[in-house]
Amino acid sequence: TNPAHIRNFSIVAHIDHGKSTLADRLIQFTGGLTEREMKEQVLDNMDIERERGITIKAQTVRLEYPAKDGETYVLNLIDTPGHVDFAYEVSRSLYACEGALLVVDAAQGVEAQTLANVYQAIDADLDIVPVLNKIDLPAAEPERVCQQIEDVIGIDASEALRISAKTGVGIPDVLEAIVTRLPAPKPGDPEAPLKALLVDSWYDTYLGVICLVRIMEGTLKKGMKVRLMGTGAAYHVDGVGVFRPAKQVVDSLGPGEIGFLNASIKQVRDARVGDTVTDDRRPTGTPLPGFKPAVPVVFCGLFPVDSAEFEDLRDAVERLALNDASFSFEMETSAALGFGFRCGFLGLLHLEVIRERLEREYNVDLITTAPSVIYKITMTDGTVIDLHNPADMPDPVKINTIAEPWITATIFVPDEYLGGVLKLCQDRRGIQRELTYAGSRAMVVYELPLNEVVFDFYDRLKSITKGYASFDYQWKDYREDDLVKMSVLVNDEPVDALSMIVHRSRAEARGRGMCEKLKDLIPRHMFKIPIQAAIGGRIIARETLSALRKDVTAKCYGGDATRKRKLLDKQKEGKKKMRQFGRVDIPQEAFIAALKMD
Ligand code: GTP
Repeated sequence: TNPAHIRNFSIVAHIDHGKSTLADRLIQFTGGLTEREMKEQVLDNMDIERERGITIKAQTVRLEYPAKDGETYVLNLIDTPGHVDFAYEVSRSLYACEGALLVVDAAQGVEAQTLANVYQAIDADLDIVPVLNKIDLPAAEPERVCQQIEDVIGIDASEALRISAKTGVGIPDVLEAIVTRLPAPKPGDPEAPLKALLVDSWYDTYLGVICLVRIMEGTLKKGMKVRLMGTGAAYHVDGVGVFRPAKQVVDSLGPGEIGFLNASIKQVRDARVGDTVTDDRRPTGTPLPGFKPAVPVVFCGLFPVDSAEFEDLRDAVERLALNDASFSFEMETSAALGFGFRCGFLGLLHLEVIRERLEREYNVDLITTAPSVIYKITMTDGTVIDLHNPADMPDPVKINTIAEPWITATIFVPDEYLGGVLKLCQDRRGIQRELTYAGSRAMVVYELPLNEVVFDFYDRLKSITKGYASFDYQWKDYREDDLVKMSVLVNDEPVDALSMIVHRSRAEARGRGMCEKLKDLIPRHMFKIPIQAAIGGRIIARETLSALRKDVTAKCYGGDATRKRKLLDKQKEGKKKMRQFGRVDIPQEAFIAALKMD
């Protein structure tokens, strides 16, 4: 295809502002899908994505559009994930585009991820067309939202499109705008040595690793031998194609085009995103700048509830990692939990998504230990270590300083909930940097220790604001502080899975809260159980779970046999998901619930 007739673009938006719905409409209007196929949202194809309405794996689709100027254009839409944890995937896909549609819900206005995502698009030098979606809603205020886009983001919104992705109003204007207001890719020489950007890669059961590539120069053909310049490995190209959205084989891809190649690459790790794909026999002299690899920032231990399931867990974790190069894992043994894995994630949502997939798709019951960030510990002898498991904390007398990561958080919230949000940030050791109003919403910027955010910040924020706040964060820096390891003892035995690193000033309150929660969560036993929190050898909080005195069935007076059986069944049910610590059974929920702060 002549590059002048190609448009490569992304849609950037806050979650729920209608990105997937718009993508489906564009596919439908250009004939890529029948009405029946439309029923299922096609671009979000994983179960969990659909349930939670979030896009995780970036996907692309090629549309053919006969424009008003009489020419037929190839429009390559690159779907980008909308959530902060996947910011890295957003940024890498943007480098394959020349333009972006900025979708803003006309009733909601600009939100935290609108801002984060559009700034990435601006950083990637893309041309941006603002699109106000959901104008069919009675609450839509397109004028106000246009003004807000100009005030908050600082781009011209006078020619923003007004559409409803749901009803289809304005979709033809979007297609025209893509052609007339977004630039074509820079022309490249089809005869030059191949130079292509590896935009994304994922594992396909039938074809092995599939690489999504954007051709800069040269031509990619089936049968040629390509080299990935970052790793140096060469592969025979078994197939070349495009997504329409179903895979369609093509003869070749030329400059400006986006498509896929499959080349019997075994692991996603071997096809590194940002790598340059070139011709093995005639390599380009100038590889593309490349990307930073996505680094995990949140860690936690995953252990099977039933230790006999360890091999199943290993299998599941390995298979998941095949398709997610940003998920890392290594074996871990815990005195209390036995064998498991220490896993690294891009953020909390990533953690939750992986945990859910393991439980649901791979059918293993898991115990998740306290999430931790990476602490930088300077020892008295000057060495610095990265600590991402509180259980590995060195002896405090050998520690000189401990530093923890900080983030800058941007929160958009309706006025009436502002007080609650400020209090939450303050309680989490936050430092306020900015407080501005845009309409009836406030934009608050806080610096926060990531450690205070990884536990249940999202959950708390949502409940305080009834779901109306939006949140996004950026990495800031490392800061030293007075941090200590708090351990939890149940029946005088340390439960390493519950130990955590906290700020000294918060330790007592956290310890007390944790002991109180555990007291409610652990069922009573035939003996008295002390539950304690400690820093080093010093107990800072204590609760006692009193002994069970009577048989649970005693109060059934022996008369009602079915009730008695039900009660016993219920007990058995409860037993299933428990782990034994010394003589004490701790239910699985206790591990997660105990970590939530109120
Ligand atoms: P993520 O995939 O989570 O990033 O969300 P998204 O931005 O792709 O949003 P999605 O397309 O899933 O739409 C979110 C919700 O808004 C869905 O319930 C849609 O049906 C609804 N929606 C999308 N466009 C419109 C519209 O034009 N009008 C109305 N009334 N609802 C819409």
